[in-house]
Amino acid sequence: MAEGEHINGIWLVRYRNHILPTMEVWPEGYGWKKWFDEAETKFKARPDDLYIASFPKSGHHWSFEFVNMLYQGNAHSVNKSKLNNFFELRTIKEIEDMPSPRILLTHLPYDLMPRDIFEKNCKIIYIMRNPKDVCVSQFHHVSGIAEYKYDGDWDHFFKVFLKGEVDYGPWFKHVKDWWKLRQEYDHMMYVHYEELKKCLPAQIKRIAEFINKTHDEQMYLNIANACTFEAMKKNAQFKELPGIFKTKEGSFFRKGQVGDWKNTFTVAQNEEFDKAFKREMEDCDIQFTFD
Ligand code: A3P
Repeated sequence: MAEGEHINGIWLVRYRNHILPTMEVWPEGYGWKKWFDEAETKFKARPDDLYIASFPKSGHHWSFEFVNMLYQGNAHSVNKSKLNNFFELRTIKEIEDMPSPRILLTHLPYDLMPRDIFEKNCKIIYIMRNPKDVCVSQFHHVSGIAEYKYDGDWDHFFKVFLKGEVDYGPWFKHVKDWWKLRQEYDHMMYVHYEELKKCLPAQIKRIAEFINKTHDEQMYLNIANACTFEAMKKNAQFKELPGIFKTKEGSFFRKGQVGDWKNTFTVAQNEEFDKAFKREMEDCDIQFTFD
């Protein structure tokens, strides 16, 4: 069984002041310490690597799908799990063995990213989503996946999220640290989940320009059509991970909406969240759309 401990009833790992998920897919004996040791000593970033970073539940699977289509130059589903390209889910040796150009997904907070990535000037796309929807989505994720061993209710999870004691938390620090990076690193692009929902073809085009994978306008439309929530849910390629969800209804494609938090937050929770948001984000100028 992978290393872990119950933190507020969720099976997680503490590492260097961070809370991280347990990694059942790693080989026996592999752990976060070994991963980070190897990431510092053995991992070599390549200038043509692309990193897609985000806090969990912000649209990672979605972005991976359309970015792959931009690389392929067609609107065919990549037909593989994003977990194959999940940076910290793979051993460093497996990442080294991947052919170029590598598209690597990560939820790592900025301060845990291997420095070589910045030294090699790799391009990074950071995906953000309004934290109320993230919180609800993460509640379903943590409740639905067996690995977390969590049976708390929504009221409990809400408090834990605000305390920042969820995997890769706190959300506030994750987003602010990555956002600050734009002041000193030229190879960053920021994308809002809500903007993707609002106008996917235009956002896909913007991303294509950033990664130098431009195509004609029709291709952006085709890719956007292939990447709607409904299309992706239908295509979901997660059958190769039997047992990851507790029930057969479990899915990485749940509702895919902006403002779904309103169906779950109480009025009091909304007020509490707004206060925390105001306090934590006071020194940050990112604008979020909540509905
Ligand atoms: P919900 O739980 O609110 O439905 P991640 O891929 O980073 O884990 O994010 C998961 C969230 O993105 C889930 O949110 C999921 O439904 C949503 N999502 C996945 N594919 C999507 C798509 N094509 N369009 C919109 N939302 C999508």
